[in-house]
Amino acid sequence: MKLRSVRGTHDLYGSELKKYNIIREKVAKYASLYSFSEMKTPIFEFTELFSKPLGEYSDVVLKEMYTFKDRNEDLLTLRPEYTTPMIRAAITNNLLNDLPLKVYGIGQMFRRERPQKGRYRQFNQINFEVFGADDPIVDLELITLGNDILKSIITNHKFELHINCLGKKNNLVKYKLELEKYFENNKIKLSEESRKKIYSNPLRILDSKEKNDIEISNNAPLIQEYISKETMNHYEEVKSGLEAYNISFVENNKLVRGLDYYCGTVFEFKTKDLGAQDTILGGGRYDGLINILGGPDISGIGWAAGVERISMLMEENFVSPPYIHLAITDKKFKNHLQKVIKYLKENQIIFYWNYKYNLKKSLSKANLNKANYVIIIGENEYKKNNFQIKKMNTGEQKEINIENIKSFINDES
Ligand code: HAM
Repeated sequence: MKLRSVRGTHDLYGSELKKYNIIREKVAKYASLYSFSEMKTPIFEFTELFSKPLGEYSDVVLKEMYTFKDRNEDLLTLRPEYTTPMIRAAITNNLLNDLPLKVYGIGQMFRRERPQKGRYRQFNQINFEVFGADDPIVDLELITLGNDILKSIITNHKFELHINCLGKKNNLVKYKLELEKYFENNKIKLSEESRKKIYSNPLRILDSKEKNDIEISNNAPLIQEYISKETMNHYEEVKSGLEAYNISFVENNKLVRGLDYYCGTVFEFKTKDLGAQDTILGGGRYDGLINILGGPDISGIGWAAGVERISMLMEENFVSPPYIHLAITDKKFKNHLQKVIKYLKENQIIFYWNYKYNLKKSLSKANLNKANYVIIIGENEYKKNNFQIKKMNTGEQKEINIENIKSFINDES
């Protein structure tokens, strides 16, 4: 048997894992700033938790879930998303007595999609939810939180917020019927994939990327015509809040989201830097979902972002704090080296030594590892009881005493 990993999965190590950990830290920081508490749920749940609320017709349920029978014939599914498990956990642990409940989590999700850049079968999501709060200020808070987190990690800020309002469930039902009629009349011009969705999920045709579908969708009836005044006012408040916070956004009336449970405000942060998988973060209101799952009739809103997609947009230099590579020319100077190691540890300065007594090999390893500094210990340094420190990006080299290492690095960076 040829040893290989399962298609659409990947191992995390080296700089990718560093990025993942930095993302986790940033998320935890913003979560506590916005007073969300962490929640972890199991990786698998009973299949029925997902099958109904995610929409019997949506792609995730029909094609993408990893479902298997347990030995006792229970049908179980590896979670394809976090919202429904978090609601389940809030209900079964009686957490909905004290509202609003603000929870977040980071974890692995599983969808059997066709793998491509930014799309995997096992991936990680950051997920934030607020249960039991109707005020538009909550929509605003969640969008702002997403914006803050992304801005703190994707330092070139090359992403764009898209928002839309889908209306309440009853408005949506009427709208879907109108869309159905419209697409039925234009059936011949639609792509084969979209034709299949006319009666099951006509909303999804609106976000098709096929050229012909886009042309047809451009003249489709608009959701705004079916939305109640109350919902529209809510949406207007969200928009003026964004303006007040100086968060620019695009109103995109074709933004429908992939899962079936949305109504009211929906939003996505998109980028042009990832190719086809251009959504970094997506979410919205899902009033009614908690009730469908057996909880009280309260509202919910949240978002999820793909860790892998965020990681691909992170700048490389963001990942590594300045670190020092040690290079020693001969075993004879080992004691001298140990003094440096002790100093670096005590001062919590990141360093690496490849356990080799060979200047050339150490320097090439330092280059490979993109070290910021190299400390060189040779005969001269041993005799003078000092060190050479080399700044790798300029090549500049200086003789310094051990106790000056920290201030040297601080002055330089
Ligand atoms: P979603 O749009 O299905 O929403 O996924 C959210 C994000 O997860 C996407 O924007 C993307 O960054 C990432 N993602 C999704 N599928 C993959 C994949 N196969 N590979 C890599 N990344 C992926 C939800 O899951 C909703 N539960 C979000 C939500 C929370 N709505 C309300 N609360």
